[in-house]
Amino acid sequence: SDPVHSCHRKAMEVLGLGNRALRRIPTDAGLRIDIDALKAAIAEDREAGFSPACVIGTAGTVNTGAIDDPQALAKVADEEDLWFHVDGCIGALIAIAPENRSLVAGIEQADSIALDPHKWLHAPFEAGCALVRDAEAHRGTFATTLECLQSAPRGLPSGQWLHDYGLQTSRGFRALKVWMALKEHGVEKFGRLIDQNIAQARYLAGRIEAEPELELTAPTSINIVCFRHRGRGLSGEPLKAFNTEIMMRLQEEGIAAISDTTVHGQHCLRAAITNHRTRRDDLDLLVREMLRLAREIEAAATPM
Ligand SMILES: Cc1ncc(COP(=O)(O)O)c(C=O)c1O
Repeated sequence: SDPVHSCHRKAMEVLGLGNRALRRIPTDAGLRIDIDALKAAIAEDREAGFSPACVIGTAGTVNTGAIDDPQALAKVADEEDLWFHVDGCIGALIAIAPENRSLVAGIEQADSIALDPHKWLHAPFEAGCALVRDAEAHRGTFATTLECLQSAPRGLPSGQWLHDYGLQTSRGFRALKVWMALKEHGVEKFGRLIDQNIAQARYLAGRIEAEPELELTAPTSINIVCFRHRGRGLSGEPLKAFNTEIMMRLQEEGIAAISDTTVHGQHCLRAAITNHRTRRDDLDLLVREMLRLAREIEAAATPM
């Protein structure tokens, strides 16, 4: 989609295919890939002599948390004989959250999924993870024959060499912390916490809608809320500067760690709720402090 994470651009450049080989497909009102536009782009590329290879859907875009329709994308990928990858760095783990798992139904059809246990599994930075369905294709991509690391039917080399599944030879045992956390807390608890964060985001969205001075700037699909202060009579750059100043003061005064982004060309603030310690009181405080800071900034800007 057009708000795809920059890691895909980097991946295309590392692959030697270049940024232009990554076609950003326009999104619909819900900021999800427009499926008809995707089909048209594939046809157009084939017509122009290119060979489309892969469809990347995002389960939880970094900007707004939008989830591209996994069922529809799987169908297109199947019909067009393309690899189907899901960037589920933010949202793949919703699959373990009982109240919301239907939001990502279909991602199990993907050929590969990226997910980040350092996000919604609370693993210490970092534990990026990629799951590939076809183990043989996966191994075939990376396996090499290093003389001193040959396989054998017995002894230490009788196991799988992990370096045959990626670029690194020596690599850290990142999986251990993920495994330990799952053993200690269980999948069920992590699923419940994901549901809790999503419910909190919906609560925050409701609080923002109820404040005449604030407005939502994108639909709240999961745990990301995009919003802004309307700024009395401001628009364009001055409105952006006003909201940026609110954000800076929230950060510098140690009140809240919110960020900002641009959605469909419109600047806004962005709250991403991933912490298991977040409480509704924290979200009430965020709304209250935003309004207070806005008044403070307005007062300082008004001539005496
Ligand atoms: C949707 C999405 N894709 C990819 C990434 C990159 O993942 P990482 O930060 O683990 O490198 C992020 C990171 O925030 C993300 O939100």
